Amino acid sequence: MMQVAIDGPASAGKSTVAKQVAQKLGFVYIDTGAMYRTCTLIAQLNGIDFSDEERLLQKIRQSKIVFRTQDGEQKVYLDGTDVTAAIRTPKITDNVSQVSALAKIRYQMVKQQRDMAGEMNVIMDGRDIGTTVLPHAEVKIFLVASVKSRAKRRLLDYAQKGIKQNLTQIEQDLELRDFKDSHREVSPLKKADDAIEIDTTNMTIEQVVATILDKIEKKSKKLI
Ligand code: DC
Repeated sequence: MMQVAIDGPASAGKSTVAKQVAQKLGFVYIDTGAMYRTCTLIAQLNGIDFSDEERLLQKIRQSKIVFRTQDGEQKVYLDGTDVTAAIRTPKITDNVSQVSALAKIRYQMVKQQRDMAGEMNVIMDGRDIGTTVLPHAEVKIFLVASVKSRAKRRLLDYAQKGIKQNLTQIEQDLELRDFKDSHREVSPLKKADDAIEIDTTNMTIEQVVATILDKIEKKSKKLI
């Protein structure tokens, strides 16, 4: 059994590479950011203030967030409804840092994430995977990239979804979100001491995937 943790700031390419590594190795991919985004959507749909920890926790406890693979794509379902696109709107992105800073909500999500990881080969991406969720993960990767390159990737992502945004605005939003995610009290975004840092600014996705596959292979040889 092997656990791979991928952490890093927003839009560093974590989910793109994690998905590809999972596919190549037959590992289960778990996108923890999607879970915090779904919590934010639950608040929005129910008219709950993004800071109302108790009410939101109660609602989250009554809700079911599940991942399902369909036609080779991972989808997120909230109580049976496909919310994959709904959790990627700028409104959710702008408010997710506030919701994910709530201690009780994190506690609930971390519990679910550990349950999901269970006894399988998993690759999980987020902000606190190597430090908190899977501290014993055999391979820990910390992906970083310049704000400019991350903003360009996000602009492209939005454009593909038909959402118009401006580059400077995205840069500011990313910096603000990174600041909030790195400075919150509970499990802030932080490189684990034993994580390998990879700067993806000047790398292609294929190169990043190959680097991670290599680290996993070396680790599994050591474990045998
Ligand atoms: O990876 P993402 O951009 O989809 O994540 C959305 C937000 O969720 C991010 O701004 C911080 C939060 N998050 C977190 O606090 N802990 C995680 N393990 C994953 C995401």
